[in-house]
Amino acid sequence: MKKIKTIGVLTSGGDAPGMNAAIRAVVRTATYHGCDVVGIQCGFTGLLQNLFIPLQNHSVAQKISLGGTFLKSSRCPEFKTKKARSTAWQNIQRQRIDALVVIGGDGSFRGADLLGKEFGLPVIGIPGTIDNDIFGTDYTIGFDTAVNTAVQAVDKLRDTADSHNMVFFVEVMGRDAGFIALNTSISTGAEATLIPEVQTDIDKLCEYLELERRKNKTSGIIIVAEGEEQGSATVVAAKVKEKLPNYETRVTILGHIQRGGAPTANDRMLASILGHDAVVALLEGKTGMMVGTVNNQTVFTPFHEAYSRHCKINKRWVNIAYILSL
Ligand code: ADP
Ligand code: F6P
Repeated sequence: MKKIKTIGVLTSGGDAPGMNAAIRAVVRTATYHGCDVVGIQCGFTGLLQNLFIPLQNHSVAQKISLGGTFLKSSRCPEFKTKKARSTAWQNIQRQRIDALVVIGGDGSFRGADLLGKEFGLPVIGIPGTIDNDIFGTDYTIGFDTAVNTAVQAVDKLRDTADSHNMVFFVEVMGRDAGFIALNTSISTGAEATLIPEVQTDIDKLCEYLELERRKNKTSGIIIVAEGEEQGSATVVAAKVKEKLPNYETRVTILGHIQRGGAPTANDRMLASILGHDAVVALLEGKTGMMVGTVNNQTVFTPFHEAYSRHCKINKRWVNIAYILSL
């Protein structure tokens, strides 16, 4: 095994609060173990365009509390081609980068896996996405902050919903997964949760709203995951309005507000531990894996499992959300 002297680090895919804390942990841990660190800007794009910057301990001072990613991120479709990855490999060699830490979601791990397998580059992934949809970890960096942001927003919407007897359809992020929606729903006491993992019956939703109204509940909050199979919150609201024309309905799409802001303490902790453990793993000779946390223990999952296995929603929690809303 070639001795690792220089470690590269990049953030890829959608930014997530806590990515900066993870970069900081990678830099500080690598430095502690006598390695140099090269930051790659703009995700995989930076590998193609030679966007390299040296990082020292002082470069990551006061970054732990900042949202976004100071290395910047990107979606880089070109990286799906072997030609682009060969260019990346040439640039990596020119920079004398011996190993790489990729902070991102499942798409980023696909790219990282190919880079590792095609060129023998040691690579470790850190799950950084607000979606929490990665197999092999209980939580991804950014999820806790995103849920807290959504909860604060829904609490505010509740005031208006109550004051005006309105039903709000609140769309939260989560690409094809309902994790943000479910946690936001339970945490705000929403009346209903629509997620892609559970089939939604609009008639039943309307029956439920009518039942609630007979119980003198004059307002409501319906959380809709953006990947909901019935359609967006706007579409779901229109379907409900068609069946219940007397209802005052409103739609709020929380959007990218959920991706920003200072990371919560939970996200800073997760990012710090995983950033540290990613570097130690590389120095111990591990490669082709994602570092995650399961029951508070660090676990390593081969990339192909992390991006191909389905990350299941907790169906018990779905039931609890329903029971608590009655
Ligand atoms: P995330 O990492 O948050 O899931 P994306 O799905 O957008 O975000 O993936 C981030 C980047 O990872 C893509 O823009 C692309 O550069 C790279 N990537 C995604 N899928 C692949 C793939 N199949 N092969 C190589 N690179 C990929
Ligand atoms: O993966 C994170 C995420 O915020 C998803 O929840 C959302 O579907 C997607 O990224 C939005 O991506 P973009 O900002 O590129 O539109």
